[in-house]
Amino acid sequence: MSEPMIAQKAPYEVEVEAGKTYFWCACGHSKTQPFCDGSHRHTHMTPIKFVAEESETVYLCGCKHSESKPFCDGTHAHLDT
Ligand code: FES
Ligand code: FES
Repeated sequence: MSEPMIAQKAPYEVEVEAGKTYFWCACGHSKTQPFCDGSHRHTHMTPIKFVAEESETVYLCGCKHSESKPFCDGTHAHLDT
């Protein structure tokens, strides 16, 4: 399995807290999207760790194909699958 699973073809709107660490699900298999729940152990993929710089609303990629992971960059609008 080399491609991530598309969790949804839209970003997840999430409130993050400044200084807090998050693990974004890169594989698409987590049941607690958009964050990792350990389900990637069945794949070769691992989550992307990021630290929120500010307390704000962010849009995390749900399609898992963004070029600027973990954030949505609009790529979801061009997926064929
Ligand atoms: Fe998807 Fe961990 S569950 S990266
Ligand atoms: Fe993946 Fe927008 S949801 S690029």
